[in-house]
Amino acid sequence: MPELSGSVLVFACSHRAGGNSDAAAELVARAVREAGGAVRVVPLRDYNVLACLACRACAKDPESRCVLRKKDQAEELFSLLLAAPSVVFCSPIYFYALPSQCKTWIDRSQRFWEARRKGDAWLLEQPERQGFACLVGGQPSGQKLFDGARMTLKYFLVNFGMTLAEPVGLRGKDERGDLLADPLAVDRVLALGREAWAAAQGVLE
Ligand SMILES: Cc1cc2nc3c(=O)[nH]c(=O)nc-3n(C[C@H](O)[C@H](O)[C@H](O)COP(=O)(O)O)c2cc1C
Repeated sequence: MPELSGSVLVFACSHRAGGNSDAAAELVARAVREAGGAVRVVPLRDYNVLACLACRACAKDPESRCVLRKKDQAEELFSLLLAAPSVVFCSPIYFYALPSQCKTWIDRSQRFWEARRKGDAWLLEQPERQGFACLVGGQPSGQKLFDGARMTLKYFLVNFGMTLAEPVGLRGKDERGDLLADPLAVDRVLALGREAWAAAQGVLE
């Protein structure tokens, strides 16, 4: 089992640099630092992740390994997640869902789903932890705008021993700078950062 890192892990999931998800990630990081914590922001777009081949080799492998493990950086990202005392996903909504690169990485976690199904001790021994999300959509309305992303994140994180808290959903944030121009939204994201650090401290103590 990887050692816990001591830092809140923040995934910035947008394909666009400098947008609202990046702003949310930086606000979370600011809140963690102001509360005395350590934080690491990881932009997913900087990582090369190949799509799951649906070959089912992980189901047959005694260690539930993926055949692509040496061909890209998916495992690097999983190692960060396994070691994180708490994690925050800051993501835009693309077509009522997570962006394709983030979903591509999540699909690659099928090997963890298989490992959990098989009862692999290295995974079941993971400490219980909390996951958080700030989801940003451009549309001002849409009752189910965040449902797809929330469900995907919830069932992704379960395999890592993590429970997803109710996400912060921010609507009507389309252009770069829209989130930072909304003081209420900024406060909600800062509060999310404080919550993530409190959850991390609970695990690290
Ligand atoms: C491919 C694509 C699909 C999108 N689909 C939606 C959508 O279904 N609902 C919505 O509210 N906004 C949608 N948007 C708008 C983004 O969620 C919005 O611009 C957001 O602020 C982008 O986050 P970023 O600034 O972190 O890149 C979409 C944007 C893109 C590029």
